[in-house]
Amino acid sequence: MKKFFVTTPIFYVNAFPHLGHAYADLIADVLARYHRIRGEKTFFLTGTDEHGAKIVRAAEKAEKPVEDFVRERREDFRNLLTLLNASNDAFIYTSDKEHHWPGVRKVWEKLIANGDLYKSTYKGLYCVGHEAFVTEKDLVNGVCEDHHQKPELIEEENYFFRLSKYIPQIQKAIESDEFKILPVERKNEVLAFIGEGVEDISFSRPSRDISWGIPVPNDPDHTIYVWADALTNYISALGYGSLDETNVAAFWPADAHIVGKDILRFHAVIWPGILYAIGLPLPKTLYVHGMILSRGQKMSKTIGNVISPAEVIKEYGNDAFRYFLMREIPFGRDGDFTMERFKAVYEGSLAHGLGNLVARVAVMIQKYAAGVLDRPAEEALLSVPTKRSLHQEVSKSRFLLEGESLERYFQYEVFVRYEKAMDDFLLTDAIAILWDFFSLLDGYIQDYEPYTLNKKDPEKTKLVLWNLAIHLIRIAIPLEPFMPQTTEKIYATFGVKRGDMNPKRIEIGFREILFPSHEVRAH
Ligand code: MSP
Repeated sequence: MKKFFVTTPIFYVNAFPHLGHAYADLIADVLARYHRIRGEKTFFLTGTDEHGAKIVRAAEKAEKPVEDFVRERREDFRNLLTLLNASNDAFIYTSDKEHHWPGVRKVWEKLIANGDLYKSTYKGLYCVGHEAFVTEKDLVNGVCEDHHQKPELIEEENYFFRLSKYIPQIQKAIESDEFKILPVERKNEVLAFIGEGVEDISFSRPSRDISWGIPVPNDPDHTIYVWADALTNYISALGYGSLDETNVAAFWPADAHIVGKDILRFHAVIWPGILYAIGLPLPKTLYVHGMILSRGQKMSKTIGNVISPAEVIKEYGNDAFRYFLMREIPFGRDGDFTMERFKAVYEGSLAHGLGNLVARVAVMIQKYAAGVLDRPAEEALLSVPTKRSLHQEVSKSRFLLEGESLERYFQYEVFVRYEKAMDDFLLTDAIAILWDFFSLLDGYIQDYEPYTLNKKDPEKTKLVLWNLAIHLIRIAIPLEPFMPQTTEKIYATFGVKRGDMNPKRIEIGFREILFPSHEVRAH
């Protein structure tokens, strides 16, 4: 049986969950649901990153003991997953001594045993926001550009990881796509970075400076560096270092790590270094998504362009939110999320788009077939082919498919292209392919006009209606990873069981409005 293991980054609990976190969760969720539908043994992992100076400072600011603070914030992240209707199989957090710490300790001990860790003095500028050392060239007027903070000058004894030793291997794996970094711009960025030369990296901090973390085994004066701790979540969550490592064998290597571009280097260089050192294979794909902006800028309280996922979902439902992020943010690039755009897309593509299409077809079946249609003979369906070719938003088809049966069309033009896009992580394309087909179905209604055809030829009208309904039922399968609630509503509308691509009968059942228009409500 094929398996699929997908992860999000673990989120720092110093911030409240925001759109950026929701985005990574959704990408992973769509992929996980897709692979589950294909019958693969799927594991979707997410969680929280709870150690380090940044978290301690946030807890101090909130005037809470750090343990209480991280527990509360962790719940916020879990609540976000519920709101999103995310189907994660596990949730890991780094302060979990039972499930996470043993994995990190095992990694450390392996590195020691290999001679891959050594003590040395470090002198450098440490940016707490980055939880990493920075160099002068990362600074503008002495201040970290990303965090608007002056880095701290630090001189101390650290454990160093012999990352340089593994660089040639890492470089080869990336170049050959054995470890695939997508999109290709990100692969090139990493290779250029490696080309400049990579040095060994500090893997600990003195515990007198930072004790909120995992102590170095057998040397409690040092705390394991937060990134070494955090990256290990991808295997500790599978039981690495615990008594039961069966999930490591079953799921590692990860099929896809989903990360934002700001944490590319940690995942593309340091993590593979650790994996080589402990003798585990590299992940297959690192998918690097862009940033969600609002009116072209990073969301920030001062600019006043912060959008809360919870509020949008409360008002419009999680499928609409999922649709917007997957369809409107070009996969792999930065994208804009504004409420104006969201509302326009909601009304256009959902309320007046898919929602209206499903409602119209159901109402016509009620009107012209008393709500029930039995499966017609295949030959009969050939008498009502499509009269137009697909509106090709995504890729040009080789054939002009006018006059093709809707079934063949769906099979070859929609499903095959959809699967290819999903397998290539082109989620935006995959969902666009589905919407292209919905416009084809809209066109099909216009071409056959069931409301007038019904008077002349009631039997043919039923064939047309069957064709429309059956393809809405069939498309619910590829739609499900993106919009799981909507697909359930489609099945309920047409009275069929989930995943029944070839029912004997369609019977209009509970007709819930898929996407209530907010425009109408306002009148
Ligand atoms: N804790 C580390 C990750 C450790 S993974 C072993 C971390 N956490 S984070 O909470 O700061 O960021 C988590 C993810 O959210 C990153 O992939 C980051 O790119 C992403 N995003 C943060 N803001 C974002 C947007 N505005 N838009 C899209 N993603 C964004 O880094």
